[in-house]
Amino acid sequence: MIRMLRIVFGLTVGAACGLGMALGWLWWRGTSLLSATWQVPTAQIEVPWPAPEADAHEASEAVHIDVAADAMRVQDGSEGVVDEPPDATALAVERGRTLAVERLRCHACHGEDLGGALVADDPAFGVLAGPNLTQGVLQGDGAMEAFERIVRHGVRRDGTTALMPALDYEGLSDREVSDLFAYAKSFPEVERTVPLSEVGPVLRLLIGLGQYRLSAFDIDHQRTRPDVPDTHDTELERGRQLASACRGCHGHDFAGGLVPGADPTWPTASNLTLHPDGLADWTHADFARAMREGRSKDGRAIDPVMPWQDMSGWTDDELQVLFAYLQTVPHKPSAMVAGPPWRTFR
Ligand code: HEC
Ligand code: HEC
Repeated sequence: MIRMLRIVFGLTVGAACGLGMALGWLWWRGTSLLSATWQVPTAQIEVPWPAPEADAHEASEAVHIDVAADAMRVQDGSEGVVDEPPDATALAVERGRTLAVERLRCHACHGEDLGGALVADDPAFGVLAGPNLTQGVLQGDGAMEAFERIVRHGVRRDGTTALMPALDYEGLSDREVSDLFAYAKSFPEVERTVPLSEVGPVLRLLIGLGQYRLSAFDIDHQRTRPDVPDTHDTELERGRQLASACRGCHGHDFAGGLVPGADPTWPTASNLTLHPDGLADWTHADFARAMREGRSKDGRAIDPVMPWQDMSGWTDDELQVLFAYLQTVPHKPSAMVAGPPWRTFR
């Protein structure tokens, strides 16, 4: 009997030690991944992006800027100016707004006023907070370079690994980065202090396990990016670009699952691939209804975490090419069983 107890005791201690060592190793690995540093070439990008003479008039009409109204005012002031040159800053800010609000969702983490926001605060996962962008980070020497570094590379000013999900933004052209900068800089200062982001114990272990990947590890930092978004792209390429607005939550393979860094009470993101766990039997009309009205194929209201309202301004054509692109990504089963808050890995 005593012998039996000894064996059981021995096995238990052994298992505990083994588990402890495994967790210790994962912890160490997570920590070393988090403290990696990067060599990023410094980008020289002009702000605001110069407005080319020829398209400027078209662009200003398309984006409803008050350039025309300004010209009118000048006219009223009887200066006789008929052709006010389009204001490069106003055009840049408007293009930046469309990008930040409809496509890239910068406000979801940095706040409506860009004064910073607490996205998640959880003892296990940690704190995710978008810093205040209105109190000087976009001012002064090297601000543009630092901005480009975190947005396209996921690397902080000092070369360390950032938590921001830059993988979604790494393909942006120079002009888009410049427009985002001009847009963000146009916000007035906001007095708000948000806590620093911090990686909690569970997230650290997930990073160690490779289940949560920091963007800087998946980005080719030496690759040259295009100057301007390529307008001669194929439909598929346009679809791929639009789909970058979904990756942050639905995953890089679009198979859904835990939304990285999100509040743990959020529902898991749906599988957008054509796997039976996902959109296998969806028609374009089902998809358009989900994106326009926030209704799933079976009529269920989609949780408001899914920002369809922000995207309801997308044109039919944009939804069409996006859906066509989703048809081409490899079909994958969902990594997780849906349903908050206690999700289980499959
Ligand atoms: C999922 C949340 C999230 C989204 C979306 C997001 N950010 Fe961030 N951002 C962060 C976090 C967290 C940090 C702090 C990163 C760090 O230091 O590890 C950060 C840092 C920054 C910084 C550096 C601020 C500083 O104090 O140095 C800039 C600039 C920035 N983000 C711009 C943007 C822009 C532009 C977008 C949209 C294209 C964007 N962010 C989208 C979470 C986010
Ligand atoms: C901020 C995170 C977030 C972003 C960004 C996002 N989604 Fe979602 N989406 C979700 C979540 C979470 C769900 C699940 C909601 C639910 O189950 O009610 C969802 C659900 C959906 C659904 C419904 C699927 C179903 O089975 O009912 C579709 C379709 C969808 N998303 C498409 C998209 C597309 C396309 C994009 C990019 C243009 C996108 N989402 C961007 C979080 C997001």
